[in-house]
Amino acid sequence: MEKKNIALVCGGYSKESVISIMGAESIEKHIPADQYRVFKIIIEPNRWYYKAPDGSTEDIDKNNFSLAGSVHFDLAFINIHGKPGENGMLQGYFDMLHIPYTTCDACTSAVTFHKDFCKSILAQYGIRVPQSVRILRHENYDISRIAEKIGFPCFVKPNSEGSSIGISKVQQKNGLRDAIENAFIEDNEVLVERFVKGKEYSCGLMRFKGSIVVFPLAAIVPKNEFFDYEAKYKGASEEIVPAPVPEKLAKEISSISSRIYQILNCKGVVRCDFIVEDGTEEAYFLEVNTTPGQSPESIVPKQVRHMGWSLEEFYQNVIAEALNR
Ligand SMILES: Nc1ncnc2c1ncn2[C@@H]1O[C@H](COP(=O)(O)OP(=O)(O)O)[C@@H](O)[C@H]1O
Ligand SMILES: [Mg+2]
Repeated sequence: MEKKNIALVCGGYSKESVISIMGAESIEKHIPADQYRVFKIIIEPNRWYYKAPDGSTEDIDKNNFSLAGSVHFDLAFINIHGKPGENGMLQGYFDMLHIPYTTCDACTSAVTFHKDFCKSILAQYGIRVPQSVRILRHENYDISRIAEKIGFPCFVKPNSEGSSIGISKVQQKNGLRDAIENAFIEDNEVLVERFVKGKEYSCGLMRFKGSIVVFPLAAIVPKNEFFDYEAKYKGASEEIVPAPVPEKLAKEISSISSRIYQILNCKGVVRCDFIVEDGTEEAYFLEVNTTPGQSPESIVPKQVRHMGWSLEEFYQNVIAEALNR
């Protein structure tokens, strides 16, 4: 059988581009070379190019996403965190070129990347989400009104960014304006969200052979005050798989995640994040990550290994699903 060409698309425009490339290295290592030819394609704001194992590079022809007219791709394995691989932009581009890809489609990616739209849709289906107020750049906002509606402490975050950049926890009204302005450095829309005090959990899942496979739950135990950039990527947090929780709670979060996957009509591997509030034990949905981290020690690779899949099996399944869609 002719080997398929896979474009392993990584990099991207966000501060997580380095993380994306690290994840891609692990993915590449675990895709069987006897079945697929993998080309690492790096997307930078001003250049899209193939980076060969020997370090040489070659520009992508954006007209048809090919290499010098000779290499055409059977599949795009998108591993970009943030723009343009997690917000629907590349998905729309690949749709127009009829190149299949591993992630959610353009619409679902755009919706999940917009935290406020995503929460609004899920809330309509009865998923519990923390209350928030969205502020647009150049719009006058009323600190007192927001403070009254959301209360303290609260979380201020860019609406469409990742890796906890521009996020702050605000304790009182006089810190709110600075936090909002700080988040506006990262995005044109900012959310002020109710702070949910509790423990954080993350649930990876994918569609596989016609049903949704939910991976074992992960508990996220930050060493800092919340799951911030340092905690996420510099080892200042611990992700425990399986989460040390009563089976009832693990089952509940699995079933909410599975519902979310169906409601949003997700494709490929996604990770849903929740906080379970102390006292009430209610799970609040935070966000869906549609291109979850793939470094060997990232949450999803840990979860699939715990489930008994090797990473080779996992990536083969992801590829097979995407090609059969
Ligand atoms: N409403 C909230 N209450 C408590 N903690 C929160 C809340 N929102 C976010 N956090 C904390 O901040 C982290 C990052 O927030 P998140 O919305 O997931 O943004 P990002 O896209 O940057 O990952 C979460 O993993 C969680 O630890
Ligand atoms: Mg997050």
